[in-house]
Amino acid sequence: MGKFVVTGGNKLEGELRVHGAKNAVLPILAATILNNNTSIIHDCPNIKDVDTMVTILERLGCKVKKDKNTLIIDSSQADQVKVPEELVREMRSSIILLGSILGRHGEVIISYPGGCSIGHRPIDLHLKALRQLGVQIEEKQGYIYCKASKIKGDEITLDFPSVGATENIMLAAVFGKGNTVIYNPAKEPEIVDLQNFLNSMGASIRGAGTNKIVINGIKELYSTEYNVIPDRIVAGTYLMAAAITGSEITLTNVEKDHMYSVLSKLREMGCELRYGGRRIKISAPEQINPVDVIRTQTYPGFPTDMQAQTMAVLTVSSGTSVITEHIFESRYKHAEELIRMGANIQLEGRTAIIKGVNNLFGTEVIAKDLRGGASLVLAGLKADGVTTVLDSIHVERGYEDIARDLSQLGADIHFYS
Ligand code: UD1
Repeated sequence: MGKFVVTGGNKLEGELRVHGAKNAVLPILAATILNNNTSIIHDCPNIKDVDTMVTILERLGCKVKKDKNTLIIDSSQADQVKVPEELVREMRSSIILLGSILGRHGEVIISYPGGCSIGHRPIDLHLKALRQLGVQIEEKQGYIYCKASKIKGDEITLDFPSVGATENIMLAAVFGKGNTVIYNPAKEPEIVDLQNFLNSMGASIRGAGTNKIVINGIKELYSTEYNVIPDRIVAGTYLMAAAITGSEITLTNVEKDHMYSVLSKLREMGCELRYGGRRIKISAPEQINPVDVIRTQTYPGFPTDMQAQTMAVLTVSSGTSVITEHIFESRYKHAEELIRMGANIQLEGRTAIIKGVNNLFGTEVIAKDLRGGASLVLAGLKADGVTTVLDSIHVERGYEDIARDLSQLGADIHFYS
């Protein structure tokens, strides 16, 4: 597995374009199955998870052409209903194919997605909602068998606003009989993007981003061409890179309205932010302020996907900060690695208490998950000496080329495959 080698101490400067959102493009790619025509999708990030999803689509019978960051997907022959097990294991979010294959064929067989390094990730809410839409579900020998002669619209109230469950319901209900209403849905910008993509193919969905989503069942979808929204987590990661190195950088292709909770924490840290069009300029102080409490929450609260990168920055603040993780119970694997770099972090259940130190020092650390891996790269930018981040494959799942991007901003970082 590859590694990043980072020599800390450089200031960052300059401008960088943020790529399309992983968590928007994955459900959109899954949704192309519903359309037995052609979907042209622009600004698809060139990342491992997108490659995995494309491989799955091809195994299901789609023909996929790639032209730089544009994917052209012909789903007319997507006849398969069984999702290959080894690929589901590679990418847990392939569970969103449940809704789209079911929506198209009234049948799907998918292996149980199993454990995950950031905590237990059950799919009970997905299955409960699908049952409510008239889907017969049997779970045996690690596989989920779903069948429905017709998806029947109903009112579904989610016990928790799960992103994946909301997406699966939307996908399954597109061709449903009558209306499906989702109360307490996830409100993430990626849900709005999925609604917009589905509507661009002829679906009839409204309310994404609010407390109630209404899907009017339709009979047919058409070819479409669509641009994916910018990745708010990649943008947040690079803003944190500026914060930890006391730098001034500008990001382009960002949607500030998707990032308020992260931007407000950056301001509490003492960073100055200026906005113009789809650009954000950040000027960070030499040493950032601590932050009283950061609670990860569902959108529009502080995203769990920014928790690790923010923790890395707080390790070198001028005081004590507290983070509480409310979405994934064991999403603190990066903390052990940051401690190996000299950070002062105490973990008590869901809470992390981070006492700022003068500086971290470079050493060999291991990326254990995607955002945790990114946090170690950020720590390496600041640390004295050389930091080697092993198992870079986790980071490649969600960043097109973090070494290229940070080098472009002046960091000393190299990727070895
Ligand atoms: C999505 C994102 C992921 C992000 C997460 C939370 C994608 C591809 N991934 O993941 O990057 O970290 O949202 O913002 O978009 N839960 C249940 N039962 C269920 C479903 C979820 O208990 O049936 C729980 C999970 O264990 C977790 C919480 O709900 O504690 C959030 O999960 P969910 O919103 O479903 O996240 P994902 O869609 O898996």
